[in-house]
Amino acid sequence: MSVIYIEKACEHEDCEATLRGWVYNRRSSGKLQFILLRDGTGVMQCVAFKGNFSPERFEELDRLTQESSLEISGKVRKDPRSPGGYEMDVSDFKIIQTTENYPITPKEHGTAFLMEHRHLWLRSSRQHAILKIRHEIIKACRDYFDDRGFTLIDTPIFTPNACEGTTTLFETDYFDQKACLTQSGQLYSEATAAAFGKVYCFGPTFRAEKSKTRRHLMEFWMVEPEVAWATLEDVMTLAEGLICFILERTLTRRRAELDVLERDVSILEKIAPPFPRLSYDEAVKKIQAEGSEIQWGGDFGGGDETILSERYEAPVMVHRYPSKVKAFYMQPDPERPELALCVDVLAPEGYGEIIGGGARIHDYDLLTQRIHEHRLDEESFRWYLDLRKYGSVPHAGFGMGIERVVAWICRLTHLRETIAFPRTLYRIYP
Ligand code: 4AD
Ligand code: MG
Repeated sequence: MSVIYIEKACEHEDCEATLRGWVYNRRSSGKLQFILLRDGTGVMQCVAFKGNFSPERFEELDRLTQESSLEISGKVRKDPRSPGGYEMDVSDFKIIQTTENYPITPKEHGTAFLMEHRHLWLRSSRQHAILKIRHEIIKACRDYFDDRGFTLIDTPIFTPNACEGTTTLFETDYFDQKACLTQSGQLYSEATAAAFGKVYCFGPTFRAEKSKTRRHLMEFWMVEPEVAWATLEDVMTLAEGLICFILERTLTRRRAELDVLERDVSILEKIAPPFPRLSYDEAVKKIQAEGSEIQWGGDFGGGDETILSERYEAPVMVHRYPSKVKAFYMQPDPERPELALCVDVLAPEGYGEIIGGGARIHDYDLLTQRIHEHRLDEESFRWYLDLRKYGSVPHAGFGMGIERVVAWICRLTHLRETIAFPRTLYRIYP
């Protein structure tokens, strides 16, 4: 008898097959046992009729608890009323392990308890749906860049350089030197962009974010394209295209998972290019008009971003922030040198920043000056400065945080559910 996955049940209608999985739920009505089996690809109701088994065998089913593992065989039958559209009429089964005292029961549990049992919590339908959507988003990112002539080049995790400021560095010993965990692959992608033209890196990044917020993790995944010769405008268009591509993919391929999360997809379906573009100057005025204390020159707080991103149905692109609040490598606007040629993309429904990027300084002297102004160690940036010495060209790129995008698309309130094993301020277990 062939072993099948629940998601492929439609290919085995009216055939005998074996499923291997875990008991998601079970109920009985004397003559019948209804076992809700999950196998990682889906959930199927398996119905066992007392008359088909000896009394002892049928009683074994009564001892099946939540998350017990078993193999179960029978005929696959179409049933439109059933969750996945198919049911199994059980003819045989083999219990692998009977689980005792599974900690996560169908009753409500507090978040701290669930986080402590994250390794088991991942089996729930909600977490399963979120991580399936995350996978789809990651695949969409890769396809988007791969299909547009970008080369994926991995950048290192251990680095001597601070890319996004020295306050959030995770430092570590690297034999007899100091190293830090990368905050962004950008600096290295600038080197590979000069070698390959259009590149992206995609990996884990690390920030010691000392404040506890629902938008920050210590370890998160970022996709970062970098393009030689590109301008700020070019990468804004690239970012807009990426977001639309991800939405389209997720809405077509992960509709069932979005339904599990009860996501109102009509809001996502309405999103289309061009996204609103707003200068920092205009954004500050809008936020002030809503009663925020923000003054021109300051960076947006989480609350300011929320105000702004609640105003729009599509992601909004805020460009040209004051250089003072941005990273050292930002190219100044020739029209107003106090501004940086940068962009933050804020997701709607109050989600806030999902993308940060812009044009990079390509002038050797200006970059050296900025490295000094930011009190960075020039010696460890020697290689980065070399890029401005040998065939320097204007270039631009951005970074998109995967967890922020997953949170928005799934409409989650906290980033901790967007990744299998989140690293948060007070938790590194499990
Ligand atoms: O705006 P950021 O700091 O930009 C950079 O790192 C650039 N070097 C990227 C580039 O131009 N190649 O971070 C980029 C994105 C943010 O927009 C956000 O989505 C995400 O990374 N992000 C975080 N996500 C989760 N937890 C954190 N602590 C994050 N910090 C940034
Ligand atoms: Mg940013």
